[in-house]
Amino acid sequence: MYRRLIAPGALVASLLLAIPASAADYTPGASGIGDPYYPTYGNGGYDVSHYDLRLKYQPKTDLLEGTATILASSTQDLSRFNLDFGLTASEVRVNGKKASFTKSGVQELEVTPPAGLPKGTSFTVVVKYAGKPTDVKLWGFTSPQRTPDGAVFANEPESAAWWFPSNDHPLDKATYDVSVSVPDGTQAISNGTLQSQSSKLGWTRFNWRSSKPQATYLTTLAVGKFDITTDRTASGLPVVNAYSKDLGANEGAAKASVERTTEVAEWLESLYGPYPFEALGGYVPNVPSSFALETQTRPFYSPKQFANGSNVSVVVHELAHQWYGDSVSVDHWKDIWINEGFARYSQWLWSEKEGEGTAQELADYVYAQHPADDAFWTVKPGDPGAENQFDIAVYDRGALAIQALRNAVGEKDFFAILKGWPQRHAYGNAKVSDFVRYAESVSHKPLASLFDTWLYQPSKPASPALRSAGV
Ligand code: ARG
Ligand code: ZN
Repeated sequence: MYRRLIAPGALVASLLLAIPASAADYTPGASGIGDPYYPTYGNGGYDVSHYDLRLKYQPKTDLLEGTATILASSTQDLSRFNLDFGLTASEVRVNGKKASFTKSGVQELEVTPPAGLPKGTSFTVVVKYAGKPTDVKLWGFTSPQRTPDGAVFANEPESAAWWFPSNDHPLDKATYDVSVSVPDGTQAISNGTLQSQSSKLGWTRFNWRSSKPQATYLTTLAVGKFDITTDRTASGLPVVNAYSKDLGANEGAAKASVERTTEVAEWLESLYGPYPFEALGGYVPNVPSSFALETQTRPFYSPKQFANGSNVSVVVHELAHQWYGDSVSVDHWKDIWINEGFARYSQWLWSEKEGEGTAQELADYVYAQHPADDAFWTVKPGDPGAENQFDIAVYDRGALAIQALRNAVGEKDFFAILKGWPQRHAYGNAKVSDFVRYAESVSHKPLASLFDTWLYQPSKPASPALRSAGV
């Protein structure tokens, strides 16, 4: 739009006179960050450093209202930019001045500041909003889960747009202050540490802070009536677990599993190096879903995970993601194997340690379980496609690839790779190809054909590959 305001002649004149860049040079930020699986996720033209969310949620009516303040910096001369957001904004300000805004599609909020933002400018966006998040249907047709006493905001690869405006892609991580006011007697659980909690006029406000870079989909909020346990690890990190007061028959098994968080994290530290965040925990709301999610510092577990008794394996999976997924995140969503393959393999290592079957035995079992004509082998864990992003093959065949690596490079190099990788890319993003190169550099072995076989071929690899791996 800005381009049309200035006649071409004026542009030429301004260049000739060496006048500083005019609005004519400013262009809109892209409406997607450039992820082929999800072209509209994330946005171009800016980078967020911090989100401050000051919200109020009424479980009775599902009304969420509040203000998001976003600290960002422009990465181009920016005439306007998008935020990913499913709710409706009532006012948007950029650097304190009212900005015009329109909603396009179900989750694009287009913001036009009164003046363009030169490349490299730090700027502040304030978005005021109110709405019913469980009515929001994002492009993936997802909504938050409402519970009898609250709601839960957790999903992958999208969930942020249900409840706050953001640059919704793991490539743009930021720190967070999440402050949520709920009726007295109800709690609000989020990531990181509880800085403070105070009550007035019938409402209790919970102030959470997550101070390490965090992807939008790993940012979570749960409102409800919870039993909360607090503790500290031997090294002094706070551990906060929360269990819905309404878990019924699953309550004991949920607590018997999630209360082992510190022990599991310590064991994972021995494998993957120092725990990357400032707090730990887990929460189990009374949702109907059956999945779990590695929400940063405080994974989300569905009660169904604990329907057969304790399930420490799922705790191992979600905590392993703190290194593999949360600290080192996918570059694009096609890189999902660097999350799920390793979280699954961590469960195999736990089984090995517990004497419930070695990783090799589990690999042999999975391999034998799927005959060559099983559709399982048509999914390529290294590039599964958006529709198969969470297919069982990404997990199980993804873990077979890691067992093949172990056999190819030997124990010493294998465990050096597992520990070195999370340090190498701590708090950043990485691609499958970065892992392959890293494993080659540590082991001094060519591994391209091994990974091609296990991650990229749409067919069942020959069985010797699982042991000798053709290297
Ligand atoms: N990363 C999650 C896990 O721990 C996957 C969740 C996918 N399911 C979903 N409903 N979004 O395996
Ligand atoms: Zn996982």
